[in-house]
Amino acid sequence: MPPTHPVSVFACQPMKKIQDSYFHKAKREGFAARSVYKLEQIDRKRKLLRRGMRVLDLGTSPGSWLQYAARQVGAQGHVLGVDLQEPRGGLPAHARILQADVFDIPAHSLLQGGAPFDVVLSDMAPRTTGVPSADAARSEELARRALALSAELLRPGGSLLVKVFQGGGLPALRKTFAAHFAKVTLEKPKASRSESVEIFLLGTGKKEGPAA
Ligand SMILES: C[S@@+](CC[C@H](N)C(=O)[O-])C[C@H]1O[C@@H](n2cnc3c(N)ncnc32)[C@H](O)[C@@H]1O
Repeated sequence: MPPTHPVSVFACQPMKKIQDSYFHKAKREGFAARSVYKLEQIDRKRKLLRRGMRVLDLGTSPGSWLQYAARQVGAQGHVLGVDLQEPRGGLPAHARILQADVFDIPAHSLLQGGAPFDVVLSDMAPRTTGVPSADAARSEELARRALALSAELLRPGGSLLVKVFQGGGLPALRKTFAAHFAKVTLEKPKASRSESVEIFLLGTGKKEGPAA
């Protein structure tokens, strides 16, 4: 079923736009970016998103993950996106986007009086410098912020999927995830180019109470 909202295709970093088969598929299917297939492939494998769920999507722009999540949770669900960039229009009624920096926004303000989220997604990426260790360190900071927000906003048993650039800090980050989640896996979907340093950490079964 095609999405009913944004139709133009934008890459996260336009200078590095990859016009491969996933790019053209996204354009055909009405998704805002080829990144949607990374989420779709992980979701198909791990069964993260279901009807009626509440989803927080960190680093939402241009919006393909939000489009996919909104479609999977359906009109009984809810998706809240957060991004530094100004939101585009054309969202379904059960999705909203907040323009904010995740480091500045207090966790409780994202609940907006609603129940905790069932799933938190983060495809956030830093502005890259070309220095791999610096880019990985900044990406890890974003991943740790997503984890800190999840500690407050995700329901027990919920899932967190986070993109991170592979660097020296990845084993420690994975260990921190393991303190919060019953199961932690590393995901590299086919749609993520093999030469890309990105990988996805997935925590499922959020533990009750404060992390060990
Ligand atoms: C790869 S793009 C996300 C693509 C999106 N998932 C999609 O499918 O269309 C990464 C996004 O992370 C956002 N971002 C980076 N740092 C952020 C921060 N501190 N707070 C909020 N958003 C941030 C960027 O503005 C950018 O839009």
